[in-house]
Parts: sequence; C-alpha cells; structure tokens
Amino acid sequence: MGLLFHKDTVKSTNTSVKEYYDLLDKNDYIALYSDVQEAGRGRLGRTWESLSDDNIYLSIMMKRKIENINFLTIIAGVSVCEVLEDIEGLEPKIKWPNDIFVNGKKLSGILTECSYSGSTLSYFVIGIGVNLNNESFKDFQDIATSVYKETKKKYDKVEIIKKIIDQLNKNIDKYGNKEFDIQAYEKRIFHLKREVYFEGEKVLTKGIDDIGNLIVENQKGEELKLTFSEISIKL
Ligand code: BTN
Repeated sequence: MGLLFHKDTVKSTNTSVKEYYDLLDKNDYIALYSDVQEAGRGRLGRTWESLSDDNIYLSIMMKRKIENINFLTIIAGVSVCEVLEDIEGLEPKIKWPNDIFVNGKKLSGILTECSYSGSTLSYFVIGIGVNLNNESFKDFQDIATSVYKETKKKYDKVEIIKKIIDQLNKNIDKYGNKEFDIQAYEKRIFHLKREVYFEGEKVLTKGIDDIGNLIVENQKGEELKLTFSEISIKL
C-alpha cells in the first residue's frame, strides 16, 4: 500500500517528496508528482526541463531493503520501459545507465538518490521524468522527444504515473524474491556490442554482468566494468 500526492508546482519532486518521510512508517511507498518543477534536477548536476505541465515529473520514496543499490537504477529503467512499451507504436530502449530513448532521442530520465544512516541504506527516492504530451521543447528540440511527438496521440498522465508506480513495486518485489532477471535490462539496451565513448576513448560494449555493471573493452583489449559512469554515443 502506498500514497500518491499531487502538487501544482515544486522546485523538484525528488526534494519535496521527502517532506512526507514520516508517512513511510505505515506505507510501502510515498509518491509525488507535480505539474511543473521550477528547478528539476538531472543526473551529474544537470537540470531537467520541467516547465510543461504536459509531462511527468514523479518521485517515489521507499524504505525497502536493497542488497545492491545498482539495481535501483536498473529496476527503475526496466519498469518505465515496460509501461511505455504498452503504448502502441512506441519502442523505448535504454541507454546506459538509465536514460530511455526512442528513435535516437531522449524520452525519459531517471535520478535515483539514496539516504544512509551510517553505512545502512535508510531510504531512497527514484525520480522519473517522462516527456509525455508536450508538442515541442524549449532548448532540447534536437535531442529530446515525447510520447506525443512519436505517436501523435495524447495520454492520461495520472494513468501512466499509476502504471509506473505499480510496475516499479512489482519489479522491486521480484528483486527481493531473487526473481528479477538482469536480462530484462540487458535486452533493452540499444548500444550493446557497439562502439561508444568512455572518458573520450572508443570502447566496445560487451554486456551487463550479474551485479549490474556495464562491461566494455578498450582499444588495448582490456575489459573495464563501469558502475555509474557516463558513456557517449554517436547516433
Ligand atoms: C537525467 O536524465 O539526468 C535524470 C532526469 C530526472 C528527472 C526527474 S523529473 C522528477 C524528478 N525530480 C527531479 O528534480 N528530477 C527527477
């Protein structure tokens, strides 16, 4: 059981959801979505364009026990993909570690933040942005897309939000029962067995290991395991 809250405007749902922390004692999750974010945050200190109320800005806070926190990112990426795959005509794919792309443009991004008490994970927040019904972008026209731009149809925002929350819970349960298969993630990555760039050097992506690292081979034939690093791809 969990709770879903809505706000018209916040700075960032990843920050505001924490105001409900006390409610986590009696709930499996607390989720918050906002129509607009004044200071939407992306990975690696970037910003996330969040001014269109046509899109999804959602954060889900949980206290679940997760053995390997790499899997939060992996489970979130798979869950969002699974929901979007149900939309007719949409073929979402994952770019390491958890960007969701359609036809070479970014459709969704995920920002996972963990809070520790000492070395123990006390709670985490999974923040999900999905470009849903917007018809254009202010700054990212060339690199971003939306479900509307891809399918020419508009979708019920709250319905998609509820499906994402549901899928995320199901997959976290699966992970807890040791039934989550890393294959679900690997098979959705669009750049496997392809040359990409890591720290400015060409590397070949070889696969995902069973603890969620991306395995790449550099020009010297050495294998590297990447945990959260950024790779770039010439599309
Ligand atoms: C990225 O691709 O860099 C991650 C983007 C994550 C954006 C979402 S929108 C909801 C939540 N609140 C934020 O401030 N960021 C995340």
